[in-house]
Amino acid sequence: MKIEITSKIKATLYEGYLPIAWGHLDPEGGKTWLGVAVAYTYEHKGYGTRIVKVLCEYADKGGWELWLTCPDNLVEWYRKFGFELTCQRINNHEEMVRKVSKERRAEKAIERCNKDINAGKKMCEWI
Ligand SMILES: CC(C)(COP(=O)(O)OP(=O)(O)OC[C@H]1O[C@@H](n2cnc3c(N)ncnc32)[C@H](O)[C@@H]1OP(=O)(O)O)[C@@H](O)C(=O)NCCC(=O)NCCS
Repeated sequence: MKIEITSKIKATLYEGYLPIAWGHLDPEGGKTWLGVAVAYTYEHKGYGTRIVKVLCEYADKGGWELWLTCPDNLVEWYRKFGFELTCQRINNHEEMVRKVSKERRAEKAIERCNKDINAGKKMCEWI
């Protein structure tokens, strides 16, 4: 799998030189949106799952909440990765969100505090 990091994070899975599955994390409107697609003849072989898992791992490292919209028939599939329905429907699609775990939020807050302490600031942060 190739991971490219620009303003988006893109993951592409290849069979030899042939790209067969794609995914991206796309910051837009203050949210990070996840998208994934698998080439038709390669569907249902676990490639979509691999892409979504890798992108969720990236999001976890960054402490980012992930958002997506999907047709009704994929809601249960996305639940497996920790996405939950938001009760919003957009263009006949369900909106889902994958929240940052409490543990990860706490780790990020500690990282921020340590950075500020190292920079000589006195600070306290409630999480
Ligand atoms: C949706 C998609 C990304 C899933 O990737 P994938 O590699 O096919 O999925 P995986 O092999 O990892 O997982 C398979 C499971 O996903 C779910 N799934 C995949 N496509 C589905 C569909 N059209 N309807 C319902 N469930 C579906 C099922 O639970 C399926 O399990 P099964 O193979 O036992 O039926 C891929 O099928 C795809 O690109 N589909 C066409 C485009 C599309 O629907 N995009 C919407 C993205 S929001």
